[in-house]
Amino acid sequence: MGKKLKASSISPANIAFIKYWGKKDKKLRIPLNSSISMNLSHVYTHTTVEFAKNFKEDTFKLLNEKTSSMEEKRVFDHINIIKSKALINLKAKIVSVNNFPKSTGLSSSASGFSALTMATVEAAGLNLNKKELSQLARLGSGSACRSIPDGFVKWQAGDSHKNSYAYSLFSPKYWKLYDVIAIVSKQKKLTSSTKGQELIKTSPFFKKRLKSVNNNLKLLSHYLKKKDFTNFGILCEQEALNMHAVMITSWPSLLYWTPNTLKLIKLIKKWRQNNLEAYFTINTGQDVHILVEEANLEKLSSKLKQLKFVKKIIINKPTIGVRTTEKHLF
Ligand code: PMV
Repeated sequence: MGKKLKASSISPANIAFIKYWGKKDKKLRIPLNSSISMNLSHVYTHTTVEFAKNFKEDTFKLLNEKTSSMEEKRVFDHINIIKSKALINLKAKIVSVNNFPKSTGLSSSASGFSALTMATVEAAGLNLNKKELSQLARLGSGSACRSIPDGFVKWQAGDSHKNSYAYSLFSPKYWKLYDVIAIVSKQKKLTSSTKGQELIKTSPFFKKRLKSVNNNLKLLSHYLKKKDFTNFGILCEQEALNMHAVMITSWPSLLYWTPNTLKLIKLIKKWRQNNLEAYFTINTGQDVHILVEEANLEKLSSKLKQLKFVKKIIINKPTIGVRTTEKHLF
């Protein structure tokens, strides 16, 4: 395949039902456990990458957001892996845009590194399959490997670069499951997932989590197969609480929730008692992901819209993974 030198891609973020928290290998981002997720239709990153002789250095611009030199370095380190694979010596111009705020726990690193991987690989003229793309995306951000395949996805932990990648379990059409994100604050999180994960072993519950997570993976796959929403939802909540228990009891402690996060958790439990079947899950941030089936989507949305402390809701259904686009950002 010839080198196009310029390419663009769009990638969804994803929400994990069984979470990834902690690594076996820091550099290769090999996780301690496998995880299962769903791609989100309405939170995504669009990225354009171009290589050219006249570029004097690699540049990265995230539209509408500020980036730190550490974040830029992470982007450049990632494209360098792809450049060396494609034997490209040229400098790159990278422009990205998220349709949601970054570093608030909405998984911008997942959509960001998945989109970056696809656009860079295309521009560099590498012909890679989804498995290889997923392996590569993982090197940028662990959860990014799950944004490559379609729909409902499993990231097989593995123990080497070659066998740690994500693949599709079911297509987006498989189940009309919704993930409604309730944004309760636009505050940036204080500790990134990458830094936070390094603390996992300081939690006294770390070993217990690893034991339970493998059983939870089996159970969740089973509930997903049966589309058993009640058991599926209960397990998603238990799993999120399990991960946050480890975060809170790590040292220094990682407490990502705000009072509004807790307020919403309590309300969801109350709504459930009144026949609104919905379950929550939370990542590294204060915002709450609420899982609901189509029959209850409107009821849930209107309840959320009545809450003053909920700044915004984003309704997501399952969607396809990363794709290329002819729409360039420059
Ligand atoms: O890929 P990272 O380093 O942003 O870690 C993601 C961690 C969680 O979102 C909390 C869990 C997950 O599996 O997505």
